Amino acid sequence: MPESESMPESESMSESESMPESEVGQQRQVITIDGLAASGKSSAAKGLAQKLGIAYVSSGLLYRAATWLALHTDVDVTDEEALFAILSAHSLTLTPYHDRDNRVSVALAGETKDISSELETSTIDAAVSHVAKHPRVREWVDTRLRELCCQFVIDGRDMGLVVFPQAHAKFYLQASAEVRAKRRLSDRNEDFNAAVHAINERDRRDAKQSKPARDAIHIDTDDMTLEQVIATMLEHIRARGR
Ligand code: C5P
Repeated sequence: MPESESMPESESMSESESMPESEVGQQRQVITIDGLAASGKSSAAKGLAQKLGIAYVSSGLLYRAATWLALHTDVDVTDEEALFAILSAHSLTLTPYHDRDNRVSVALAGETKDISSELETSTIDAAVSHVAKHPRVREWVDTRLRELCCQFVIDGRDMGLVVFPQAHAKFYLQASAEVRAKRRLSDRNEDFNAAVHAINERDRRDAKQSKPARDAIHIDTDDMTLEQVIATMLEHIRARGR
């Protein structure tokens, strides 16, 4: 398989007839990968983006950053108005790259701080679903994501259904809670049973906002390697371009 392949354009051009004008102007091409917590979507999305030579975007990082901001400004995560107010007051920016991880920065106490390394923690995991359930927070995140240019692979929970319904290709990754906990433990030093419990709990809280698009291709990754998942997605994308 070649290291980097360009995304086929034929189908996205016909889809652009029904896109908003701003998207046509930028010739946006988006591939969405949705799935539950620790389903392997970020590794798969990064790997796919690298193969296609386009950027990778993590939508979850914006929810994590909103949660970080609430925890650092003593805002109650159940208070939708207060959450929206801090998001409006502190310039919070997600910057995607072609060749490295997304960076997130926030303006706090007169300084712009890079908070990227503080977002993937168990404390944020435990609070983030409470922040993400508020419609005004979701609208704020969706607006930031729709402002991004131009070609990218994005992962999340509702990217294909809600945020980018015109996406070039949509995937939904599934895996059992046990397999997801094992994958999580390879990045973090946690107890296995506690990780399974935390994943099941986050699934329960995220259920409302974790919906696959009707036209998403479902991939069960339990018995697949990361390379196989990426190869499966590439095959679907190539087939769509034919
Ligand atoms: O993808 P990740 O696990 O980093 O997402 C963190 C949290 O952000 C999720 O548990 C969920 O509460 C929220 N989220 C969401 N919608 C998305 C992406 C993430 O509600 N599209």
